[in-house]
Amino acid sequence: MVLVEASALTGKRIVLGVTGGIAAYKAAALLRRIVGVGAHVDVVMTAAATRFVTPLTFQTLSGNAVHTDLWDPASGSALAHIGLSRAADAILVAPASADFLARVAGGRADDLLSALVLARECPLLVAPAMNRRMWEHPATRRNVETLAQDGVPCLGPAAGEQACGESGAGRMLEPEAILACLEAFFTPKTLAGRRLLMTAGPTFEAIDPVRGITNLSSGRMGYAIAQAAAQAGAEVTLVSGPVALPAPPEVTWIPVVSALEMHAAVMERAAAAEIFIGVAAVADYRVENMAEKKLKKDMDGPPRIRLIPNPDILADVAACKNPPFCVGFAAECENLEAYAQKKRRKKNIPLIVGNLIQEGFGGERNRIVLFDDQGAHPLPEASKTHLARMLVAHIAQCLNKTRTGSEQSLNHTSTHNPEPPTHAEDHNRHQDSR
Ligand code: PMT
Repeated sequence: MVLVEASALTGKRIVLGVTGGIAAYKAAALLRRIVGVGAHVDVVMTAAATRFVTPLTFQTLSGNAVHTDLWDPASGSALAHIGLSRAADAILVAPASADFLARVAGGRADDLLSALVLARECPLLVAPAMNRRMWEHPATRRNVETLAQDGVPCLGPAAGEQACGESGAGRMLEPEAILACLEAFFTPKTLAGRRLLMTAGPTFEAIDPVRGITNLSSGRMGYAIAQAAAQAGAEVTLVSGPVALPAPPEVTWIPVVSALEMHAAVMERAAAAEIFIGVAAVADYRVENMAEKKLKKDMDGPPRIRLIPNPDILADVAACKNPPFCVGFAAECENLEAYAQKKRRKKNIPLIVGNLIQEGFGGERNRIVLFDDQGAHPLPEASKTHLARMLVAHIAQCLNKTRTGSEQSLNHTSTHNPEPPTHAEDHNRHQDSR
């Protein structure tokens, strides 16, 4: 059995439209990811798309029949397209070719996918993919503008090398990024407009120009939180030590190396933040006598490295005049509760997230416990992506509680009371009011 963890897409019905372009091969990977988070996907392909990838590929990956023909006698009804769109929570067209954008902008319904789009009652999202000149052409610009006016979000495109050998804007976003956009579309906007500042990853304290002191933090936990918060509508600034992860979409990304650089980048922005989350594994000490040149082995004995303490970023943010809502992290080998609570009190912060070093560092999954004035609140072991969503939901509840003074319990972290609208619900309201 495949274990699927809750995503904003879990249980949703998505129609994935695939149009003709070389990026159609990436739609197969995208389909896998959407199915992987527990959504039901019906694939509809244009005739041109079937020339790039066979319907069998999508049928195998989705586990459902693939629809290609407006006049398919097997569907049993000439109006099958209406049924498909009525059942859907959203239609995502990826890749969306220049021709398809033109046809949708013009209200055409001359094949199954365009008919389905015109007959829909659910949101439509498009991820364009085309040659850069086609993307830049005034006709395409007009079509994209028309779709924007019709409330159709355009995901990408990205810039870079194109299959035709040219370079520029027009590449389809990577499947991971499209999935993140789709999840964001369905995520309740619990942190709408909130300014969130955070740190992630390790720091690197130089010993000489090529060596340094660092740790095994991969940045995964912090980057997952940054993404979950952005999906929940926060304006996220992520100050990150050196990691091998791409910057999450829709996040202001500030790369730094040392603890001093991280401290400076955070303190510059702390006054404007409403929430601060310190996920980084910051080096407690730095090298006072960093060598200007590479240390040589043939010195008189091993090098003498003198360490001096680094500033405590989290404690300094919490000591600001009007501090943001501060959340710390504590990675411990043992005595999690005692050590984490001690750190929380010492740094004077309302919430600290405890995890064991052997579970939290480096990997994809984690087991975390939230510690506050009320005590310990363990969350189930899960992927860092899933835990990040739960933590973001909990922080939103804490902020609302502070704002309204109403009593809400930590036990509601994952079960949720009335939630703010998602983009999808906003979109539907918008459509209804027309
Ligand atoms: O990056 P991953 O591989 O996904 O791993 C995630 C993680 C294990 C690094 C993360 O979940 C975690 O636990 N981060 C905190 C690591 C830690 O133990 O930090 P600390 O005990 O040294 O510091 C406690 C808190 O103070 C942390 O919020 C830290 O960011 C902050 N701190 C510490 C020292 C310092 N000079 N400045 C700080 O802001």
